[in-house]
Amino acid sequence: MNLKILVTAGDGIGPEVTNEAVAVLQEVAQIGGHTLTFEAKRIGGIAITTDGTPLPAETVAAALASDAVLLGAVGGNEFNSLPPDKRPEAGLLGLRSALGGFANLRPAFAFKELAVNSPLRPEIIDGADILFVRELLGGLYFGQPREWNKTTGEAWNTMRYTKAEVVRVAKVAFELAQKRRKKLTSVDKANVLETSQLWRATVIEVAAEFPGVTLEHQYVDAMAMHLMNRPRDFDVVLTENLFGDILSDESGVITGSLGMLPSATVGGKVNLYEPIHGSAPDIAGKSLANPLGAILTGALILRHSAGLEAEAAAIEASVRKVLEQGFRTPDLARTNPQGFTVLNTQQMGAKVRETVKQLLAASC
Ligand code: IPM
Ligand code: MG
Repeated sequence: MNLKILVTAGDGIGPEVTNEAVAVLQEVAQIGGHTLTFEAKRIGGIAITTDGTPLPAETVAAALASDAVLLGAVGGNEFNSLPPDKRPEAGLLGLRSALGGFANLRPAFAFKELAVNSPLRPEIIDGADILFVRELLGGLYFGQPREWNKTTGEAWNTMRYTKAEVVRVAKVAFELAQKRRKKLTSVDKANVLETSQLWRATVIEVAAEFPGVTLEHQYVDAMAMHLMNRPRDFDVVLTENLFGDILSDESGVITGSLGMLPSATVGGKVNLYEPIHGSAPDIAGKSLANPLGAILTGALILRHSAGLEAEAAAIEASVRKVLEQGFRTPDLARTNPQGFTVLNTQQMGAKVRETVKQLLAASC
């Protein structure tokens, strides 16, 4: 297996956490005799500062010439007053649309060891295992027209979907549900929005091709509550771009930390992999960041772009094992580090590498 991975580490804690993800991937590749080559390009705030644009053309070209892209995070406080199209986030949105992946897979699962970090009671989250399928290229994020007219004091965005856009992402979600617990929850706001009515009608049509999967519909406001009350009832959750953005952050509560959650975007020319957490400028460069979300994102690269399921599973098992053994980054140890060994970013990465090496050696 030969895989060319472009790393766009971006801003804040992005470089620190992607370094650890890359090191874990290298370790796994070496053990299995696979060749992974890594190249780095700028995106986000660092690209604004260096190249004058959040998404340099050479980053897009390198991304399109690679087999997978691993993104760290984008954003920083110094860019907060810029208009949306000049901000670091615009670089990420531009990259997403250049790569064309429309289905953003965001797993949210409970780690038993991190249950104490969740404000939800352990018996509520124990065993929760949700896969969000977030539509990534449509809706308010990309709809035209959009404008803030400072003269009139008005601003508008457009939520727009075509049937074809809903069909393609719904198919991905149903296919994934077929391989999981065969339940699909489609989230919309069909009691108010036409886009949601199109969404719901289309999902019902697509469902006819997947008779083995049970389909239910939820309004997004009710879903926000159900996720906290009974997260175990959900398997695959399909939703549009903005609702998916919001609900996936909310689901960080189930996991105990947003720092643990990976994501993969599929369906386009090149898959894009990014942890769900942001750039966390307050702790950047201090070795305090939790690299496990990025490391688990690396596992998704192996699963979805390399077909290396056993290796992906070994990385995931290693993360669980490291937590079981009581190792924590400061965000996970919180104010109660008693009984835990608190590790910095690099030490946590090294611990996962050591563990994955043992696991893979044992399985050979
Ligand atoms: C995410 C982030 C991005 C989004 C931002 C950084 C543009 O919040 O990936 O969830 O809104 O999609
Ligand atoms: Mg988000």
